[in-house]
Amino acid sequence: MRKKTYISVFVLLLAGIMTSCDKDNNHPGYSYFPDMQVSRAYEAYSSNPNFADGKILRLPAEGTIPREMIPYEFEKTPENRIWAGQNVINMVEMTSEDVERGKELFTIFCINCHGEKGDGKGFLYTSGKYPFAPKNLTTDILKKTPRGEFFHVITVGFGVMGAHGPQIKPEDRWKIIEYIKVELQGNAIGQ
Ligand code: HEC
Repeated sequence: MRKKTYISVFVLLLAGIMTSCDKDNNHPGYSYFPDMQVSRAYEAYSSNPNFADGKILRLPAEGTIPREMIPYEFEKTPENRIWAGQNVINMVEMTSEDVERGKELFTIFCINCHGEKGDGKGFLYTSGKYPFAPKNLTTDILKKTPRGEFFHVITVGFGVMGAHGPQIKPEDRWKIIEYIKVELQGNAIGQ
């Protein structure tokens, strides 16, 4: 009797093993409640009959901007720089922490060319690796230059200096400017 039970369990197991695998490896097999596995949404690169062009990937609606991005509409021209100097204003009150952070950012993004003191004698230039003389940021003219003009130069570039807008967030640009104004040029914070 016991032997028979063993044999029947064995036969059942064997039958189970033999029927459970499919030759087709791409077939997911059988599953109950497949809703969570099988997406009802269209696959990214499949076609979509609901749109006239049949494409599934749509362009964002016109005028859409990424979250947190603030569009900057001024161009790299002298007139636009002056305009920005008069109209682009930092709405946030700056603190000494912001100046500290500005120093870190200046060290990352500007020091190589403009130098530790902002005098234009950065390593890239003095070593001869970069051929264009970076401007001295501590001249009397630049001490009086409005922060908006600096914002403009960082954002779109100036002459041979490239734009840094894509790398540096607007709020960080203001911190760099505050550092230049306060620590390198000796102006009062926020003025
Ligand atoms: C790869 C080198 C390089 C880097 C990096 C760089 N600059 Fe410049 N910068 C220059 C050069 C070169 C000029 C002068 C361009 C010209 O006269 O055509 C300049 C000009 C400027 C001016 C205009 C000065 C004036 O007299 O009107 C400002 C302001 C300025 N840079 C600020 C910055 C700040 C702030 C950073 C960092 C976010 C920075 N630069 C990063 C090379 C650089």
